[in-house]
Amino acid sequence: MQVIISILKANSKQDVKDIVSLINICRQEGTTLLNSYTEDEERIFLGNLRLREAVFVARSDQDKFMGFASIMQRFDSNRLSHCGEAGTWVMPDFRQQSVGKSLWKKGIFPWCRKNGFKHLGFFVMENNKVALYFYENLGFHICGYHRKLISSNKSGYIDALEMEFWVE
Ligand SMILES: CC(C)(COP(=O)(O)OP(=O)(O)OC[C@H]1O[C@@H](n2cnc3c(N)ncnc32)[C@H](O)[C@@H]1OP(=O)(O)O)[C@@H](O)C(=O)NCCC(=O)NCCS
Repeated sequence: MQVIISILKANSKQDVKDIVSLINICRQEGTTLLNSYTEDEERIFLGNLRLREAVFVARSDQDKFMGFASIMQRFDSNRLSHCGEAGTWVMPDFRQQSVGKSLWKKGIFPWCRKNGFKHLGFFVMENNKVALYFYENLGFHICGYHRKLISSNKSGYIDALEMEFWVE
């Protein structure tokens, strides 16, 4: 199956709708920390991305929405402008079919090289082993540990793993 990666245009109603519903799926799974947004809120957020920030969308050759990935500036400091923060979300039906990998190889990594993002870093929930394996497979490594960083309805607070990658 072919995976087509393209940069998101905030005025694409279908992309915005698909992203909102995937965020809600991941919220139910407990695999994302993103809040729930209405389509209007998401469209406004996407329309306000800074020049160096981007969202990539994966679709099948039959135009089915498969997932998305984002790259944002991590800090508001000129000395940290080479630092980016990224995320990846893939529809459950299309997982383990290299969609996430394609979003990075064809979208995020080339974008980082072109737009001066060299250090990528973020944290993943300690219990999200799939995300950990996914990012390790891309070349990220664990560089820190946050104790009780994230509040959880079920178990008080949960720990998170800080991961980083240097883009050559
Ligand atoms: C994490 C996620 C983005 C992975 O996307 P994906 O398209 O399924 O991943 P890929 O098929 O590209 O897999 C790439 C590599 O990741 C690892 N991986 C992916 N899924 C895995 C799983 N279920 N178990 C173990 N390793 C896994 C493997 O190393 C895989 O390499 P391989 O295909 O050579 O075995 C997807 O599971 C997802 O959307 N999860 C919910 C949201 C989330 O947790 N996002 C990450 C935090 S922002």
